[in-house]
Amino acid sequence: MTLELAMMMMNEIPWWKKSVVYQIYPKSFYDANGDGIGDLQGIIQKLDYLVELGVDVLWLNPIYRSPQVDNGYDISNYHEIEPELGTMADFNELLAKAHEKGLKIILDLVVNHTSDQHPWFKQAKQAKNNAYHDYYIWKKPVKQQAPNNWGSSFGGSAWTYEAEVAEYYLHLFAKEQPDLNWENEQVRREIYTLMRFWLDKGIDGFRMDVISLISKDPAYPDGPIIQNKQYGSYYAGAANGPRVHEYLQEMNREVLSHYEIMTVGETPHTTVEEATKYTDEHKHELNMVFHFDHMHLDYGENGKFSTKRFALSALKRVFTKWQVGMAQHNGWNSLYWSNHDQARPVTRFGTDQQEYRQAAAKMLGTILHMQQGTPYIFEGEELGMTNARFNSIDDYNDIETKSVYKDFTENKHLGSDYAMETIYLKSRDNARTPMPWSATKNAGFTTGKPWLLPNPNYPQINVEQALRDPDSVFYYYQQLIKLRHTLPIVTTGKYRLLHPQDERNYTFLRETAEQVLFVTGNFTAQAEQLELPTFLAGLENKLIISNFTAPQSTSKTVNLPAYGAAVYLFTKECDKSR
Ligand code: GLC
Ligand code: CA
Repeated sequence: MTLELAMMMMNEIPWWKKSVVYQIYPKSFYDANGDGIGDLQGIIQKLDYLVELGVDVLWLNPIYRSPQVDNGYDISNYHEIEPELGTMADFNELLAKAHEKGLKIILDLVVNHTSDQHPWFKQAKQAKNNAYHDYYIWKKPVKQQAPNNWGSSFGGSAWTYEAEVAEYYLHLFAKEQPDLNWENEQVRREIYTLMRFWLDKGIDGFRMDVISLISKDPAYPDGPIIQNKQYGSYYAGAANGPRVHEYLQEMNREVLSHYEIMTVGETPHTTVEEATKYTDEHKHELNMVFHFDHMHLDYGENGKFSTKRFALSALKRVFTKWQVGMAQHNGWNSLYWSNHDQARPVTRFGTDQQEYRQAAAKMLGTILHMQQGTPYIFEGEELGMTNARFNSIDDYNDIETKSVYKDFTENKHLGSDYAMETIYLKSRDNARTPMPWSATKNAGFTTGKPWLLPNPNYPQINVEQALRDPDSVFYYYQQLIKLRHTLPIVTTGKYRLLHPQDERNYTFLRETAEQVLFVTGNFTAQAEQLELPTFLAGLENKLIISNFTAPQSTSKTVNLPAYGAAVYLFTKECDKSR
């Protein structure tokens, strides 16, 4: 194939397949007015930083009006900006300035539930015959108890009793986050209206919060009890429910298909088979989904909050299943190591030991960014940020962290040391600590009192330092992003795993008819030597990127130092004759 033809084919690929997304947790990004909380003006001030990194799309966590019980995932008004974060004028300015600089913006769409302070819910709980009652999911008590055993994600039952109407309402998350009743057509229409409101402003798409949970099994069956939990898992009853695809196809028909946008669904408890139903381009639902399979690899003795570490062979199995599975079914992967709900990847999948931290961060970046799909970078990942360890539970803010601590110490009697150990490994606040902009007070994030403490290692790990050091994780991520923009094979190449059982290296190929990308990363602190597969040995090749001083080309073996990573691009024999 000629280069021209390859470029023409690239032009036909939708923009979101060639993009890198950067996730901003607005509260933690940059505080422009000194009240200790990151805000929209703060993002505006840092747009040039994001341009320098080279990303294409910004995903903002919820910025709508919210009582902040779950940091914005409890929305009381979908048409207004949360005053802590700014005003609608600030948002309009942010969108315009981002677009001017060539950055797209997607927003979080949280429509599985609202806040209990949303006017709909305030009406709904007043009377059974209120027009809004049926906007939510209500059930009569069964033997004076909740209608089934589902537990809320943040602890306790998923049902709360409202004496006024003598019924329980469902909340898969906090009791302040009642689930909307998607069976009600009027609810769906309201949601489509609010989506159009933002799309008509010119936003570039949505990340859809827990979208796999919107359709519930009408039988509301008890869920299985997992790991001595007090409550049953609602996922078995509620994830990927019977009408979810019907709803999303309707949403696509009514709203999404009328705009040039991207959509990514957050889909807990979704297998590859399930995911292909959401993302098969012939089915007209979503562009891609976030699965959780790699996030579950270190679930252990107490579920998410455990001390277990992942196994590399299992990680490869998961990534490979998704790479191959989505490609087979006209789907598209979203690629991520972290987000606002997850620990920092360097700590979790690499090491935060000082001497290897940067190498590990770059290695992990290489393994993810060289896969097929759309990569997501969570703020600070490009600095190789680590988990935070705060001494006291009082230094944590997150509702999940607080409820786990209470459960472990008060109900399960696991002791506060153990509880803190798991929080150091898994708390969502590991991701949510303020972005460290410099080594000055409060990491240069705010001139006020930060709503959450910065990671104590900010004097070493911060933006100013990274921009000064040509060898920083930042500049490495910049290169990875550039590679996606300039080498079509990174978007199109077919994925093939080598050495599935090896617990030390992750090595895979990306193949087209003419080229092979050889990608390898060392997940250990020992040096590694790798044999090239025989069909590559001897082929012309060149080094594309590495996190150490690697030879410019390779013939038989690749030597990797601790946490080393390297990518070589091979040209197949057939092409040389042309
Ligand atoms: C998603 C969000 C998480 C939130 C939950 C409830 O998982 O990512 O932050 O707590 O949904 O909205
Ligand atoms: Ca502020």
